[in-house]
Amino acid sequence: MSEARLARAGGDLRHERADGVAVVKQFVTAAPLISTHDAYERWAPTYPPVAHNPLMRAEQDAMIRLWPDVAGLRSLDLACGTGRYAKLLADSNASQVVALDFSAAMLSHVGMVHRVRASMLELPFAAGSFHVIVSGLAAGHAPDIHRWMAEIARVLKPGGVLLYSDFHPEAARAGHSRKFTDEHQRSYAVPHHNHSVVAQRQAAAAAGLNIEAVEELRAGHELCEAFPQSEAFYRRWSGWPFVLVVRARKASA
Ligand SMILES: C[S@@+](CC[C@H](N)C(=O)[O-])C[C@H]1O[C@@H](n2cnc3c(N)ncnc32)[C@H](O)[C@@H]1O
Repeated sequence: MSEARLARAGGDLRHERADGVAVVKQFVTAAPLISTHDAYERWAPTYPPVAHNPLMRAEQDAMIRLWPDVAGLRSLDLACGTGRYAKLLADSNASQVVALDFSAAMLSHVGMVHRVRASMLELPFAAGSFHVIVSGLAAGHAPDIHRWMAEIARVLKPGGVLLYSDFHPEAARAGHSRKFTDEHQRSYAVPHHNHSVVAQRQAAAAAGLNIEAVEELRAGHELCEAFPQSEAFYRRWSGWPFVLVVRARKASA
């Protein structure tokens, strides 16, 4: 298994697609850990631009609860994947929607908005370019959360809003990890950098972003949709947070 390392796996959520249907189940297996970029290049063909498992549906519901008014505003879907939030921004009448990701394969599925291939840690935009930045399930891919927040704050206009979600650091700390099965039915684990909620709050404050709202989605509470063997999952993990959603605002000039 040359460069690939074995990731711990067991009792996690993963999504698979069979005949276009997304399912989530628990499993006990080992999946090679590949680089984040390679992972998303491989995942792209089976990564639909909609919330495609119970965790994502709960996450998206929370994002919608905290959704800013974007009508007539310039907006960025940061680490857009196949464009789930870019589409919602366009549907919310943002005046301009830019979708950015470092995976060409992911971007190739994004339609109807401006697409930019770049690192979210080195944004190719001038300071103050956007009123709103939305980022779904990507903060944990930043090795340095301070740099991630600072780069976002730089390209936000004064008074601009950041809305983001991520796999909850406490779920990662408990041994859960992100995995997927590619179109050839091979399973992989995706690297995750674990930034505690406190670290995320500190990084936001250091970047000049004031946190307005935080939602932590807990198993058996906000995350409660049934899936195969979910009874055992919810019994074991009841009350444990699996998703973090944060809205923050850059101080006005
Ligand atoms: C879990 S997917 C989320 C996709 C989309 N935001 C959503 O919520 O459906 C994470 C995305 O982050 C992108 N990503 C990870 N690290 C990145 C980086 N350093 N710069 C840009 N994109 C990155 C991946 O290519 C992938 O599309």
